[in-house]
Amino acid sequence: MNIMKIMIPVLTTGLLMAGSGESIYKSKCASCHGKKGEKKALGKSNIITGMPVDKFITLTKAYATGEKKAMTLAKMVKKQFINKYDDKEIKAVAEYVNKL
Ligand code: HEC
Repeated sequence: MNIMKIMIPVLTTGLLMAGSGESIYKSKCASCHGKKGEKKALGKSNIITGMPVDKFITLTKAYATGEKKAMTLAKMVKKQFINKYDDKEIKAVAEYVNKL
């Protein structure tokens, strides 16, 4: 009985976490990058489908800070993304894109 009390919250949290990378990507990124990351965002970006997790995080942050030059709109979106979500959530999105 006790084990169930522990396992239920652990399992539900796991499920919610698993969904969040996908839901963030679909609501914030897919409009430009495509549902599968297959589009050249605004005709400019590289295809991000399957991008390695580390590269994805580094690039997104570099665009957000302005370290790497981007179109104004692209920079704004990255900045909002980095400010709004913590490292775990950003990683979840990166892992989602990596598996697309
Ligand atoms: C308004 C359209 C738009 C949205 C929305 C958008 N991006 Fe981008 N993204 C771009 C553009 C354009 C570039 C290419 C950089 C440039 O030259 O401006 C880019 C580049 C990137 C790259 C680097 C790809 C490469 O060129 O190597 C990554 C990674 C990325 N975006 C992640 C994200 C994530 C994560 C989100 C969601 C939080 C997101 N983008 C939302 C437009 C967008």
